Amino acid sequence: MNTQTSSRLIALAAGAALALTACGPGAAAPAATSAPAKPTKLTVLCTVTEDWCVAQTKAFEAKTGIKTTFTRLSSGEAATKLKATASNPEYSVWWGGPADGFVQAKGDGTLAAYKSPNAAKIPDKAKDPDGFWTGVYVGALGFCSNKVELDKLGLQPPTSWDDLLNPKLKGKFSVAHPATSGTSYTMVWTQVVLRGGEDKAFEFLTKLHPQVSQYTKSGAAPAQAVGRAEAVVGVVFSHDCVAAVDAGFKDVVVSFAKEGTGYEIGAMGLVKGAPEEAAAKMWIDWALTAEAQEIGPTAKAYQLPTNPDAKVSDRSVKLSSVNLIDYDFVKAGQAKKGITTKFEEAIAAQPK
Ligand code: G6P
Repeated sequence: MNTQTSSRLIALAAGAALALTACGPGAAAPAATSAPAKPTKLTVLCTVTEDWCVAQTKAFEAKTGIKTTFTRLSSGEAATKLKATASNPEYSVWWGGPADGFVQAKGDGTLAAYKSPNAAKIPDKAKDPDGFWTGVYVGALGFCSNKVELDKLGLQPPTSWDDLLNPKLKGKFSVAHPATSGTSYTMVWTQVVLRGGEDKAFEFLTKLHPQVSQYTKSGAAPAQAVGRAEAVVGVVFSHDCVAAVDAGFKDVVVSFAKEGTGYEIGAMGLVKGAPEEAAAKMWIDWALTAEAQEIGPTAKAYQLPTNPDAKVSDRSVKLSSVNLIDYDFVKAGQAKKGITTKFEEAIAAQPK
C-alpha cells in the first residue's frame, strides 16, 4: 500500500488525532422555517454481525427515542435488495460491510449523497468524496485456523495464500461466496492485486475450489465453522476470528499472509428515496461519533474505529502489525459485479 494510505491507517489503528475540526456529535442542520416533525422510526439494513446490529440499534434508540429496527444481510445480498426495492425503498440507511459494496451501490443509483458534518474528522481514504458512503470501521483480512486440527494434520497456521492449496486441506477450508459476502470479495480482490490481474486471480481461485468444504453466505461464518472443527482453516476478517475466540472457541488462532493481505473500510450510506430520511441522517451523524464507535467491542466486534477520538479495544488487531496491500475500493467496487458473476459461472458452479 502507498505510504500515505498506510500512515493514515496506522494513525487510525493508534487512535491518533487526525484533522480535528469543530464538528461535535451535536452539530446541527440549519434551522428550517417550519419545524419538521421529530422522526419516530428508523429501518436499518445492517451488514455487521447480528450481535453488533442489536447493540448499535438499541444504543441509537436509547439515545434518540427513535424506534430502530434492522435486517441483517450480507453485502452482496444488501446491494441486490436495495436494487430490487429501489422504486419503493424499505430501508433508510445501509450500515456496515466493505466500502467496495457501497461503490457498487453508488453505481447502481441506490444511494443518496449525504455529507455529515461529523465526517470532517474521518480520513479521506475512508469516505467517498461525493458523500455517498462514509467509513465507520477498518479491519484486515486474515486466516482463521483450528490449532488442534492443524496439529493432527502436521500443519502450522498459514502464512501465505498458497498455503491454502496444501493437499492436506482439501475439503477442509472455509470461505464465504463472493457474490453474497463482502468479506469473500475482499479475498478475491486481494488476489487480483497480489497476482497482477483477474486472470491470475482466477487461476488461484480455481485451484482453491476443491479445498473449499462449502461456500458460506455470510463472511464471518467460517470462523464459527473452524471453531466447531467443521473446517480446519478459514478466511475471514481477523476481528471475526478474535470474536470466535471470545465466544469460547479456544483452539482458534489468527495468522496473516506475509506477502500481503486485503482490508476493509466498513462503510454506511443513506438509501436513495429513504422513507425515514431525517432519522437516517441522524444515524449517520451519530455513527461517526466516538461514542457510537466504542459500542462494537461490547458486542465482540473488534474493528478499528475511523473516528480518531474513539478508544481502540485491546482485542483489536493493530494494522501496523500486518502487511496490507494497496486496496483501491473504487476499482474493486466497479469490478465487483463482473468478477462475482464470473466466479459464479467459472468456479462455484463447477464440480470439485
Ligand atoms: C462481518 C465483519 C464485518 C464485515 C462484514 C461483511 O460482520 O465483522 O467487519 O464488514 O462481515 O459481511 P459479509 O457477510 O458481506 O462478508
